[in-house]
Amino acid sequence: MTSEFVRLEVADGVGTIRLDRPKAMNAISIQVQDELRVAAAEATARADVRAVVVWGGEKVFAAGNDVKEMSTMSYTDMVDRVEALQGAVNAIARIPKPVVAAVNGYALGGGCELALAADLRFAAENAVLGQPEVLLGIIPGAGGTQRLPRLIGPSRAKDLLYSGRFVKAEEALAIGLVDRVVPAADVYTEAVAWAARFATAAPYALRAIKESVDRGLEADLETGLQIERQHFSSVFATEDSRTGMQSFIENGPGKATFEGR
Ligand code: CAA
Repeated sequence: MTSEFVRLEVADGVGTIRLDRPKAMNAISIQVQDELRVAAAEATARADVRAVVVWGGEKVFAAGNDVKEMSTMSYTDMVDRVEALQGAVNAIARIPKPVVAAVNGYALGGGCELALAADLRFAAENAVLGQPEVLLGIIPGAGGTQRLPRLIGPSRAKDLLYSGRFVKAEEALAIGLVDRVVPAADVYTEAVAWAARFATAAPYALRAIKESVDRGLEADLETGLQIERQHFSSVFATEDSRTGMQSFIENGPGKATFEGR
């Protein structure tokens, strides 16, 4: 499939999933959803992608799902489509590598939900986030009612979901919706710098951490600890665990060079 609006750009171990539909403020149409899934699959599969930045360019992250397209859809159209819609965002969430969203401008509705699928979010000083679906008479359908309360707590999430109000970067930082606020010109480079640290890290350890945290958060503590036990034992099967511990014994902490095996 040739992608028109979403592409994966790879440099120095970092893959950037770039949304590029500027005429519609990067609105996430059905085509964009399908292209996001393809980009996520490629970022997952490629060994030269060790961490991922999701970026919508310098002006806007994404103003949500494509309202013009959605307005023509019936209940049964949406019944048929909603799994693929959620699946596009889930595909980003399930990339088994560190993923950061770099948010310039608006991240609204499905755009905010896409940012929520990343492990963390860096925002420009001019970033505006929110879940304004209720103002359209609908609700978030790409994970917003689930990932937002898990991230910022149910009360704050309901305040945003009920009102549909926009949240500026400073408030987003205060409520934990974003993790770092930087000048607009620096968001992407800061996100790439964060991701680049993992280009030489132990990828199967990172993967085991991500799966333990994400799966564990869906479970009770005892089940989460069981998930951790399994992943903890499994990383002892990697060459990187041999290298990492041997390097510590011989040279001290943080000096290992990992092969990613
Ligand atoms: N879908 C389709 N087109 C959109 C869009 C969207 N989500 N957001 C913006 N656009 C289009 C506008 O229609 C406009 O197109 P035209 O030039 O053809 O008229 C163009 O982008 C520029 O938009 P504005 O003129 O509105 O620009 P602005 O700077 O005045 O406002 C904005 C920007 C605040 C982002 C405003 O466009 C806006 O509120 N957009 C909609 C936000 C929204 O409701 N998002 C939720 C969508 S529903 C959803 O995402 C469901 C889900 O959970 C999966």
